[in-house]
Amino acid sequence: MRSIRLFALFSGNGSNLENLYKTLESKEVECKNKEMGRIEFVGALSNNADAYGITRCHEMGLPVMVLSHKDYSSREEYDKALLRAMFLYEPDFVLLCGFMRILTPLFLQVYTCINIHPSYLPAHKGANGIVDSFKDVEASFGGVSVHYVNEELDGGEIILQEKLSKSPFRDLSSYEEAIHQLEYKLYPQAIIKAIKEKI
Ligand code: GRF
Repeated sequence: MRSIRLFALFSGNGSNLENLYKTLESKEVECKNKEMGRIEFVGALSNNADAYGITRCHEMGLPVMVLSHKDYSSREEYDKALLRAMFLYEPDFVLLCGFMRILTPLFLQVYTCINIHPSYLPAHKGANGIVDSFKDVEASFGGVSVHYVNEELDGGEIILQEKLSKSPFRDLSSYEEAIHQLEYKLYPQAIIKAIKEKI
């Protein structure tokens, strides 16, 4: 059975990465040609040496590297270093798990990348999707979207998305918690769907 190699990029807490690893590692899934493949997380990388996600990787036994963007003069130079660091891992997909960097075409031409965003795209793009959707008086719902990554911020073809009605939530923290729970459900499902579409 072929191996479906997944590599994760993250910058912070890493709860989505941990959930993906625990839900999908070693799982057998159907590929495009109807053959089965076995998911294998081959490694992870953080651009932030202080990210809590690094501790999660150590605890799960997932090999993790740190490559700080601060050591590079441009996005392109950083992405070249990222490509060099990841070269031997040969991932089928690169999963963005709270990776707070915009990837350049240099990187996106090499790897198929998948991102999760905590809003019902195309609404509430950007770094504050949860707060922006909660505070938007015009929006009765927020949501979660998983999408392929292109050069546009939080752009790219949607793989799966689901709405979350705002009406049950009186405060931001309970809304935020519900968004995260929806992320933990949707991101693994979206990856299984993407494998069936592309691999
Ligand atoms: C998630 O809300 C995700 O949608 C966004 O960044 C956050 C990462 O959280 N892209 P965590 O690091 O996975 O806990």
